[in-house]
Amino acid sequence: MKLSTLLLSLYPLLLAFPQQTSTAISPISTSIGPRYRLRTHLKPRSRSNPHPHHRLNGLYLYTSPSDSVIGRNYPLFTSNISLAAYAFLNGTNINNTIQQFEIYNTTRPFSTRFSLQPDYGWAEVNIYPGFSETNGFEFVNEGRLGKALAMSNSTIYGTMWGGWIVCDWAHGAPQLFWRQNNYVAPQPYPAPRNCADVHIIQVL
Ligand SMILES: *[C@@H]1O[C@H](CO)[C@@H](O)[C@H](O)[C@H]1NC(C)=O
Ligand SMILES: *[C@@H]1O[C@H](CO)[C@@H](O)[C@H](O)[C@H]1NC(C)=O
Ligand SMILES: *[C@@H]1O[C@H](CO)[C@@H](O)[C@H](O)[C@H]1NC(C)=O
Ligand SMILES: *[C@@H]1O[C@H](CO)[C@@H](O)[C@H](O)[C@H]1NC(C)=O
Ligand SMILES: *[C@@H]1O[C@H](CO)[C@@H](O)[C@H](O)[C@H]1NC(C)=O
Repeated sequence: MKLSTLLLSLYPLLLAFPQQTSTAISPISTSIGPRYRLRTHLKPRSRSNPHPHHRLNGLYLYTSPSDSVIGRNYPLFTSNISLAAYAFLNGTNINNTIQQFEIYNTTRPFSTRFSLQPDYGWAEVNIYPGFSETNGFEFVNEGRLGKALAMSNSTIYGTMWGGWIVCDWAHGAPQLFWRQNNYVAPQPYPAPRNCADVHIIQVL
């Protein structure tokens, strides 16, 4: 019997006993992780993080449209968890795992895209409708802090990623950027006075 035929014949059984057969149901498993919100946690003061302002700590990510929800959305931060955006990872392996958001009360997909600014120490992160080509999102264990959003170093963006930085910037609320470690000197690029390095923690 061919494997696919075997799996088809097992299918009703797998549905009937999802717990017991959980290791055997990969043909029908989902690529969607749990839903969560995202919260900043300041990284300690250091040479590259000279201004870890407390006001940038413990803030939740929400999305703000640049003009209309059809296009670009900025990832901004608020202390009000009720305004936080729900997010989830979507992917079957690290090279296709993207960071999606459920926003504007629509089933329309939105996902996270990195800008590249080769001459700068950090660059924009934006959220666009559809499925982004910026992949490699994962969570890493940060001990008592919980799980922190990261970019896998086995992907293109991951090899350039140097962490998250949050800045008081142009849109009236702290904004998320990514540190690029592929830019020209000085290394490590010091966070400007209105910015701080943060972990982005998963809040289930
Ligand atoms: C938080 O946001 C919710 C939803 O918009 C609002 O009802 C509530 O008043 C806000 N809380 C504070 C402390 O601003
Ligand atoms: C996950 O991504 C795939 C494309 O890779 C897409 O077809 C699917 O609809 C996405 N799932 C959700 C829940 O958005
Ligand atoms: C992901 O892509 C990188 C670079 O192309 C490759 O080296 C790696 O093997 C890929 N990993 C997986 C799980 O496909
Ligand atoms: C979200 O959409 C659903 C279905 O269209 C609607 O019933 C619900 O009131 C909406 N919620 C908000 C907060 O707009
Ligand atoms: C990628 O990250 C892993 C885990 O932190 C580390 O062991 C490995 O050396 C890194 N690889 C590169 C090429 O930086």
